[in-house]
Amino acid sequence: MKTYTDIPIDPWYQQTLHTLAFVSDAPKFFDRQMKKHGKTYRCKILGKEYVRAHGPDIAQLIFKNSSDSVQTGLGWQPVLDSFFPNGLLLKDGKNHITHRRIMQHGFNKPAMLNYFKQIQRWADDFTADIASGREIDFFPYIKEQTLDLALKMFLGLDYKAEFGQKIATAFSDTVAGTLGLVRVPLLNTKYHRGIKGRQTLVEAFTTLVQQRRLEPNDDLVSYMISARDEDGSEFSDQQIVDHLIFTMMAAHDTTASSITSLIYQVTKAPHWQKVLQEDADSLKEFSYDSLSMLEQTEHIFKETLRINPPLVSIPRYLSKDVELSGYAIPAGTRTGVNIFQTHRDQEYWSNPEQFDPDRFDRKEDKKHPYQFIPFGGGVHKCIGMHLSMMEAKILLRSIFQKLSVERTEPELDIAVATAPIWHPKVPMKVRFVPR
Ligand code: HEM
Repeated sequence: MKTYTDIPIDPWYQQTLHTLAFVSDAPKFFDRQMKKHGKTYRCKILGKEYVRAHGPDIAQLIFKNSSDSVQTGLGWQPVLDSFFPNGLLLKDGKNHITHRRIMQHGFNKPAMLNYFKQIQRWADDFTADIASGREIDFFPYIKEQTLDLALKMFLGLDYKAEFGQKIATAFSDTVAGTLGLVRVPLLNTKYHRGIKGRQTLVEAFTTLVQQRRLEPNDDLVSYMISARDEDGSEFSDQQIVDHLIFTMMAAHDTTASSITSLIYQVTKAPHWQKVLQEDADSLKEFSYDSLSMLEQTEHIFKETLRINPPLVSIPRYLSKDVELSGYAIPAGTRTGVNIFQTHRDQEYWSNPEQFDPDRFDRKEDKKHPYQFIPFGGGVHKCIGMHLSMMEAKILLRSIFQKLSVERTEPELDIAVATAPIWHPKVPMKVRFVPR
């Protein structure tokens, strides 16, 4: 078997540009590396060396290995730890299982039924607001809206009435901090603003948790306060605050990214808007149980997640020796799952660059259990997967029942960025008009 040093890597002077290339366009960077070195290669990002390998088999191997050998927390640590310490993704093994089980109470059926009603109200307000026909720069707009929803569902707060911009700015600074190239809190760096953003969130959320202990509500904070594990364990205030900050971040940015990407696709190929409209019209009564009938909407949303997964790549740390693509990889190596390239693997997807929701009708996604992985896999698979599907269906039904959408600029192929999540690099201006 080949050894670690047999894995190809650029010369040192090119490695110095890897982080910049990754941050500005991760898929392009990985593509270039693959063309140059083949499916397995090494690269250096944020000062750490990574072994990259691609495809559903690799994803399966990484996701299915126990946390004794493949660690998620240590994988994410260089990026997330200063800003989102103790979030679920930063935990492994028994500690992760205990915390995830307690958190799961916030995503069970009674909680989802409650979120359903809140999302429906939010979606109807959203539709009423965009129906004015004014020009909207969609990504910043929906980010604000999904943050508004997250504040309602998770914290029971009214975004516009209470913390408002302060929390929104603190969030975006904290998320942007994860990508700061300077990793010490020097004044006026992204890193420094990120650390300050986190402090603001900790202070605001700690007060809130204390209030909810006295006066429970039907939000995620209250579910987390009352939830107990089988052995009776419960979360402390600090643990709830850490989980909330992480979950809010995981929830609102990913949802904003995926809906923006869907609008991007259906304004380029308006035929799919008709399909969304027909699907919306086909439901006479709308309830939590009838969501599964919005099958075409689900396929369009899934195809959006395939072609532009919000997270293009997720990191892992090998804590034991592992064999990967015929190489003996020693413990201590950093690696990851490349979602973007896996979703474009021609062995599994026909015409992968084309937006074609019908591939889910044809069950093209069923050839390999790890070929479609926008929500990850294994024990860390996204806890909000069903919630985000529900959010998307409710919002899309509400919008396309009444409206169509068009771009207001002639150029439909706009520049996009993929870090920290997929989003347009330039304004994506749209207008919603009555059908
Ligand atoms: C389209 C929307 C979303 C996408 C594409 C997405 C994607 C992902 C991915 C890929 C992971 C796994 C990361 C890894 O294994 O390294 C993950 C984990 C997670 N997601 Fe999501 N997510 C979405 C929405 C949400 C929502 C709405 C919530 C919260 C309500 C959420 C909360 C979380 C949490 C807490 C984890 C960590 C789970 C764990 O470590 O056990 N996500 N998500």
